[in-house]
Amino acid sequence: MHAISPRSYWFESGEPREYPPLTTGVHADVAIIGAGITGLTAALRLKQAGRRVVVLEAGCVGGGATGGTSAHLDALPDQGCEKLISDFGESAARQLTAGRQAAIDQIEQWTRDFQIDCDFRRVPAFAYTEAADRLNRLHHECDAARRLGVQATMARDIGLPFQSAGAVRFENQARFHPMKYLAALAAQVHGDGSAIYCGSRAEPPEDGEPVIVATPHGRVTAKQVLLATHSAYLGISQFDMRMAPYQSYVIAAHVAEPPPDALFWDDADPYHYTRRANSEEPSLLLIGGADHKTGHGDAPEALRSLEEYARSRFRVQALLQQWSSEFFEPADGVPLIGKVPMRNNTYVATGFSGTGLTYGTAAGMLLADLLQGAEPPLAEVVSPARFKPLAAAKELIRENVDVAARFVADRFAGDKIDSWDELAPDEGRLVTFEGEQLAAYRDEQGRLHVCSPVCTHAGCHVHWNGLEKTWDCPCHGGRYSAAGERIYGPPPKDLEDKTPVAEGRR
Ligand SMILES: Cc1cc2nc3c(=O)[nH]c(=O)nc-3n(C[C@H](O)[C@H](O)[C@H](O)COP(=O)(O)OP(=O)(O)OC[C@H]3O[C@@H](n4cnc5c(N)ncnc54)[C@H](O)[C@@H]3O)c2cc1C
Ligand code: FES
Repeated sequence: MHAISPRSYWFESGEPREYPPLTTGVHADVAIIGAGITGLTAALRLKQAGRRVVVLEAGCVGGGATGGTSAHLDALPDQGCEKLISDFGESAARQLTAGRQAAIDQIEQWTRDFQIDCDFRRVPAFAYTEAADRLNRLHHECDAARRLGVQATMARDIGLPFQSAGAVRFENQARFHPMKYLAALAAQVHGDGSAIYCGSRAEPPEDGEPVIVATPHGRVTAKQVLLATHSAYLGISQFDMRMAPYQSYVIAAHVAEPPPDALFWDDADPYHYTRRANSEEPSLLLIGGADHKTGHGDAPEALRSLEEYARSRFRVQALLQQWSSEFFEPADGVPLIGKVPMRNNTYVATGFSGTGLTYGTAAGMLLADLLQGAEPPLAEVVSPARFKPLAAAKELIRENVDVAARFVADRFAGDKIDSWDELAPDEGRLVTFEGEQLAAYRDEQGRLHVCSPVCTHAGCHVHWNGLEKTWDCPCHGGRYSAAGERIYGPPPKDLEDKTPVAEGRR
């Protein structure tokens, strides 16, 4: 039996692209922080419009959620068309759906223009239910999708190897290989006065004229800056209150009797999503789900439940990869894209829920338009300055009560240990040692890494993520490495290193 890889299928089958880090001072028209699908879409649109762009990336191209996705390209909102219409009105819901359809068109267009070998395919999508008593809801969803301009019909036999009670079939959606696509976008962006710098973690930008973005070994001055970092990256800000971090899981598995080449998602809570991984191996499926709020679930347990789901629905022959990544759920269900309130030259794109490949592409297109002085109608719908009291209030209160609860509950989350020998190799745990709460990890070589568990953003306690070997913050989704270095999210600094003190008390 071969080992199951914890890296995503996209990392295993694509070539993650790296560029050298920034080591000097540079000037650009626009600085973009983050080389995921949002940042690179904005960068290429701006470059095509004659702007000089600099992209700063902490890791490698696509190393964030874009490399951990399941890569369905669809125009349908996570909350459903009916709810989107009822919360935002038909006109705004149409703008959002049209923006997502235009995003898929843009990906197809660039794939054709630059002859990108990223397995882009137009396929139908099916939203299905296994429960006959929920069919009525799907009929409403089908009507609502049509009102938003999506070609939708009710379908019975959708080709899954298990019983479904019925489905809505949406035409003309798509799938692709996100890492291969991003590598090609990056190659278009880099050069001719524009540049991408990897391994270049940016500090939160200083707004002004120019804006200044510092990295460890260089800095960028620019007329404007775009935060394409998935979650907002502005210290403690209003965005923290308006989004909640979630974790979702995907497995890649060979199955007998694969379904047709289409996108599938069910109506469970949390829902499951399935697609073929590529065009050459019909039996290789990507099956996702088991979402939970960051820091609230146990990663191995979530993966077990996803595997159980997969084995109960498909004839699984071999598991190849299993991975997880984060997404950010906005309180009112609609992303926040546009100029940051109270700042003059800082723009943000965040809160994409589980559909950020199309929202991220739409955001890149919209931000490029805004920076060139255009004001497309979609801008008002997604503006961070909007406030939809009815749509947002209930969720906002629920999520923030939850954040408040973390501040209290987490004070007691660590196990008491009397010796560091109680920590096995490759084990991470919150512990109380000699009366002090600590986040401790022993690596595979036996070295101990001990940090303060207090998140440097707003003081919540981090939780151990045993799948990705990270410390995750349940409050706003900040993530640190096992040794406490910040990886992404709102935290401005690494976790405080307590290793020397801990070693002294051994
Ligand atoms: C398991 C899972 C499955 C999903 N499936 C789908 C799907 O099927 N379809 C869909 O449309 N969406 C899906 N999504 C959502 C989608 O993947 C994301 O919304 C999307 O990839 C976000 O793209 P992004 O460019 O905004 O962010 P990212 O891809 O996360 O890019 C942000 C980049 O910013 C960098 N960065 C962060 N901080 C800094 C800093 N300080 N300095 C420099 N760089 C920094 C990060 O390293 C990262 O590379 C899924 C999400 C998950 C978790
Ligand atoms: S990310 Fe906000 S407190 Fe940790």
